[in-house]
Amino acid sequence: MQSADKLMKLPPYLFGAINVLKQNAYSKKLDVIDLGMGNPDLPTPPHIVERLCDTLKNHPRTHRYPQAKGMPKFRKSVAEWYKKRFDVDLNPENEVLALVGSKEGIAHMCMAYLNPGDLALVPNPAYPVHFNGVILAGGEAYDIPLLEKNGYLPDLTKIPQKVAQRAKIMFLNYPNNPTTAVVKDMTFFKEVVEFARKYEIIVCHDNAYSELCFDDYVAPSFLQVPGAKDIGVEFHSFSKTYNMAGWRLGFVVGNSDILKPLEKLKSYLDYGVFTAIQLAGVAALTGSQDCVKELVTCYAKRRDKFVEGLRKIGWNVPKPQATMYLWTSLPDKFKHMPSLQFAELLIQKTGIAVAPGIGFGTYGDAYVRMALVTHDNRFHDAILRLKKFLKK
Ligand SMILES: Cc1ncc(COP(=O)(O)O)c(C=O)c1O
Repeated sequence: MQSADKLMKLPPYLFGAINVLKQNAYSKKLDVIDLGMGNPDLPTPPHIVERLCDTLKNHPRTHRYPQAKGMPKFRKSVAEWYKKRFDVDLNPENEVLALVGSKEGIAHMCMAYLNPGDLALVPNPAYPVHFNGVILAGGEAYDIPLLEKNGYLPDLTKIPQKVAQRAKIMFLNYPNNPTTAVVKDMTFFKEVVEFARKYEIIVCHDNAYSELCFDDYVAPSFLQVPGAKDIGVEFHSFSKTYNMAGWRLGFVVGNSDILKPLEKLKSYLDYGVFTAIQLAGVAALTGSQDCVKELVTCYAKRRDKFVEGLRKIGWNVPKPQATMYLWTSLPDKFKHMPSLQFAELLIQKTGIAVAPGIGFGTYGDAYVRMALVTHDNRFHDAILRLKKFLKK
């Protein structure tokens, strides 16, 4: 049986090779240090778990079909959180939409807007659904390179006018996965708003890491720029902020007309998020945010320990201001190697799994991403293994 052409057009799943090697290592009972996937290792904060348990036990009405666009209480909590966190006003009625995780929303956003052959501007490297969503929708992704020398911000002036005129939608993501880049101030977002207005492009800003910032850096919302809401929407996730990756809960906010087709498409495909999970999301947004502070402190500690250790053994990795990753070029000795080959060699020789940069796009191939998602004690172990590996 032949699958649909659009599935054939997807790039090869590059983490597949790493996963096979990882499984091989596990089956040989080798001690794997898994820094590959951005899968938070810490549990969801107890007050959120308790809210879910209580709802499940004591409120059986929540066991019925949920309201597809999100229950009013959830949408109101999102709007209030946005006001408090970013000072952005949102109408919970039509400017907030619940998502089965932000990945779902991003993929469906592409389907809601792109006809076969339509053009989307997609950063390279990027979180894979930003380009795979375009391909699955039958669209064409135009790469906007994120280069180290530009602080991993796209150079909008390099986008040919004809391309900009054809583009319908554009993805952005700061704090950025995989590069960990952040916007220093609102200058770049302002340029984006001007560019998007000029060419009538919908801006989809993915703000999944807005709460995972270090050293007094506070990530802004794209919607803080005057006029941004005329052309854009912003995606958020509970996965990283509240360690709820398995719960599948996210949301998108912004221009109500832009959200309408997404809401329509979703209403034909899914029933939205289980009500009990939405209520747990309300507990997350309205409860104490100390759990987020603790999480940030934990990632910062891991980051410092790992970065300093790597630098000591001669791998000069940058210290990120946000996200839960390190993004670094390959060690000097391995600079000639494609990132997938390096990642394969690394897991075979050291038992350390990392994400090869090529998995995020061709412009990522000189890099690897290491997720800070293993127990604090494991980073010391990782350094010892890497020291031996780099010496050989
Ligand atoms: C930039 C970015 N956006 C979205 C997601 C997906 O989040 P969710 O779990 O809400 O689907 C991720 C997950 O790694 C991500 O890195």
